[in-house]
Amino acid sequence: MSQRSEPILPLPPAAALDASRVALGASLFQSPLLSGDGRVSCGSCHLERHGWADGAAHTRAPGRPPTELNVPALTNLQFYHYFSWAGAYDDLSAHADALIANQDLMGTSWEAAAERLAAAPGWRERFTRAFPDGLTPGNVRAALVEYERSLTSLDSPFDRWLQGDTTAISPEAEQGYRLFESRGCISCHQGALLGGNLFQRLGVMHEPRAEAGAGSTGKPSAALGRFLVTGLEEDRYVLRVPTLRNIALTAPYLHDGSAATLAQAVDIMAEYQLGKLLGPDEKQSIVQFLLSLSGPRAEAR
Ligand code: HEC
Ligand code: HEC
Repeated sequence: MSQRSEPILPLPPAAALDASRVALGASLFQSPLLSGDGRVSCGSCHLERHGWADGAAHTRAPGRPPTELNVPALTNLQFYHYFSWAGAYDDLSAHADALIANQDLMGTSWEAAAERLAAAPGWRERFTRAFPDGLTPGNVRAALVEYERSLTSLDSPFDRWLQGDTTAISPEAEQGYRLFESRGCISCHQGALLGGNLFQRLGVMHEPRAEAGAGSTGKPSAALGRFLVTGLEEDRYVLRVPTLRNIALTAPYLHDGSAATLAQAVDIMAEYQLGKLLGPDEKQSIVQFLLSLSGPRAEAR
């Protein structure tokens, strides 16, 4: 088997991580002690069975307003260049600082979280085993981030096909990949993540979808995207092009969750981003291709 020469590359091998910190981070991710009022954990909104997204367009966690934006997936974060729909962060630790302080999410500080953990049974011992200096605010963040980095999903059927296994995806999915290339989806959804490295407006070939009134969340701010980060007019409605890996698991789609199915998301993309409609067979093949992009979770090493 020899690797194909394609514009999309298989995901690189995952970086080596510290197994005891990953395991500690996994427990922190599910612990309500990380929120100021003890009512939510990261896992309240990010569910493993949805690729660490959530099945709802807007999630209602206990004591929190419904999320303005659709909860995104968390697999392959270690390969991301930018975090959040608008790509407002380029570093997972800085992103975690913002999550902890955000009143609509965790509403606390690392210091206060470390104190709550120290007062609860078992945590001090686990931190002492994972870090030379034990349970500190910085180590709470470090363990959580180590766990986030561990959520990789390698070895999808499409990766195996790229590596030369001709039977790893169906002929229909292969046809879908060729359409994905020839129709121009690949000009935005590119690289090993099939996305994640560019910023684009939803409505390149159209007026912005948000202005057309479609997919509006009722709150105008949610769709403003990178404008909220940079303040530049040209960044109005501009979002990070999302990765399409594991997309089968993460319905509903788009930043506002306005596409219930993959077929709907593909239709919206063809209309707003390419200015062309796809025939039903073409759409079906592209969906089959997108379904080949899910891989099992790689074990943390
Ligand atoms: C109330 C629901 C909720 C909770 C609780 C929550 N998140 Fe999220 N998370 C979201 C939403 C919504 C977004 C998208 C926000 C945006 O793009 O501006 C998000 C985005 C993210 C992202 C960026 C993903 C990407 O595609 O760039 C990461 C990483 C993340 N969350 C990790 C966490 C961690 C770690 C915790 C716990 C400390 C947590 N989240 C708690 C709802 C939640
Ligand atoms: C001009 C750049 C561009 C092109 C071309 C493009 N996309 Fe997208 N795609 C985006 C952006 C930006 C988003 C995020 C939009 C949003 O969340 O509202 C997106 C979102 C998606 C999503 C939803 C992802 C999620 O996590 O919810 C899918 C699926 C998708 N695109 C598939 C395609 C397919 C298939 C094509 C070709 C028919 C295509 N895209 C062409 C930029 C593009």
